[in-house]
Amino acid sequence: MNNELDEILSSYQGVESDLIPILQDIQSYFGYLPEELMKEVSRFVGIPESELYGVATFYQQFRFTPIGRKHIIVCEGTACHVKGANKIIENIERHLNIKKGEVTFDLEYSLESVGCLGCCALAPCAMINQEVKSNLTLKDIKKLFSKKKDNDN
Ligand code: FES
Repeated sequence: MNNELDEILSSYQGVESDLIPILQDIQSYFGYLPEELMKEVSRFVGIPESELYGVATFYQQFRFTPIGRKHIIVCEGTACHVKGANKIIENIERHLNIKKGEVTFDLEYSLESVGCLGCCALAPCAMINQEVKSNLTLKDIKKLFSKKKDNDN
């Protein structure tokens, strides 16, 4: 068994109600829910794997793919949508050569969207790791990824 998982499970009793907090701990440690660990978790809490996946996919907070070191979340809420969030997302997808919900091959960037980041007056908005970027323009995106190119070289 995976040592980190062992460590996480050691603070639980192995009952059904432990499932969500265990999944939260796994995700906060690994950044996602590695599929290879789910069998062990299902055995530990005593529920079938299919049920575990049912629970995990019900909650938007859980993901089964890793996120990048720079995790980009673009807001697609109404205010941001009206101010061109779609174009921002398309542009980022083009720069990174990934689609929303994916991570770059080198695990440097991942991209996803949310319903609202809570700063609608500053739309369109995005968040890179914990930092909010507001009044985003395509020029800002270009600038962001030209820095990326400089860092790649
Ligand atoms: S709609 Fe984008 S921050 Fe609220």
